[in-house]
Amino acid sequence: MPTSKAARPIPVASRINRFSYAIRNIVTEARAVEARGVRVRYLNIGDPVAFGFQTPAHLIEAATRAMREGHNGYLASVGLAAAREAVAADYEGRGVRLSPDRVLITTGTSEGIDLALNALVDEGDDVLVPLPTYPLYTAVLATIAARPRYYRTDPDRDWLPDLDHLRSLITPRTRVLVTIDPNNPTGAVYPASVRRALIEIAEEHGLTILADEVYGELGFEGPTPLLGTLDPDAAIISFSSLSKAYLAPGWRAGWMAVGSTPRLDEALAAIKKLADGRLCSPGPMQYAVVAALTGDRSHQVAFRRALAERARITTESLNAIPGMRCTAPRAAFYAMPQVSLPAGRTDEDYVLALLRETGILCVYGSGFGMPANRGSFRIVFLADPRELQSIYADIGAFTRDYLARA
Ligand SMILES: Cc1ncc(COP(=O)(O)O)c(C=O)c1O
Repeated sequence: MPTSKAARPIPVASRINRFSYAIRNIVTEARAVEARGVRVRYLNIGDPVAFGFQTPAHLIEAATRAMREGHNGYLASVGLAAAREAVAADYEGRGVRLSPDRVLITTGTSEGIDLALNALVDEGDDVLVPLPTYPLYTAVLATIAARPRYYRTDPDRDWLPDLDHLRSLITPRTRVLVTIDPNNPTGAVYPASVRRALIEIAEEHGLTILADEVYGELGFEGPTPLLGTLDPDAAIISFSSLSKAYLAPGWRAGWMAVGSTPRLDEALAAIKKLADGRLCSPGPMQYAVVAALTGDRSHQVAFRRALAERARITTESLNAIPGMRCTAPRAAFYAMPQVSLPAGRTDEDYVLALLRETGILCVYGSGFGMPANRGSFRIVFLADPRELQSIYADIGAFTRDYLARA
């Protein structure tokens, strides 16, 4: 009997096959391991709150007060005026000329990335993204049917971009250069000379830079300068949020700052047009953006210190494991070690075996665009130092055994 139409599965759009976000996809496997009674240690998602770091009280007070005082309706799609002013004043204070009408308050950095790529990139266009990359960029490009072109960054040179390789990838269809600095997944911080070169390349080829600066206040030696400080006229759109340096990732509160050059006026108008369609980002959290950027930031001093200590433990412990090497991160809470895999094995094989045998969940490097045979994987090192020591001891024992078995 032919299957009735009603009994057949509903097909999904073909672009879904191109969309991938390994950081969360891998959790399905972790749940299966948990179901067998193994305790899983989740080192896959960069959420400081999940590891006990606390959202500053004055931010919680600002958001809850806004709700109590009845600020629960829709806001302008570009965001609350006071929040836009606070972002502009923050950028001005850090040396970037910016007027509030070039700021949008977004549902996290993520929404800013989505809006900007949709506003700037057509189907078939090229976008330069770092390798390894934060996978949201390539995931959004998949939905636009645009092409990511990965520029290499080098673990032997502190994960700095290979500028010659980057130049060689530029085509007449290249529209955007994505920079993630400080970087997830590598923890790299680019020196001014590299940043200047990136701006020069973009300017020479008429590219817009999407500057992901969500970790800009989490350099271990203090906040890193905004990219826009190097050239006030460059075509730079900068993104950040309350998720990382303000310890409130679940609030989905962020912002984007469209550079002052009139060359970006049409892009700004396009972004605003798209933003109208999603009405506004969550209202009460926008009051917390004001509190965050105009209030006390002393929590960041303690947070940076905690991160620097964890980074040191991470680098020392992983480099002591035979067959593994790890470039020291200089910001944020990620490291991307590499293990010399036996021929024929992939980074995913290694990470899944580690998960199944030890309950430790990391994300394989190919989820960030790395070649699968390179043996890279990303660790989130937010756990407390004693827990980290125990995790690295287990990774060491597992890896010695894994490589010996091969
Ligand atoms: C480089 C980078 N950009 C953007 C995001 C998304 O951040 P948000 O929570 O602000 O959307 C993350 C989150 O991990 C990230 O690492």
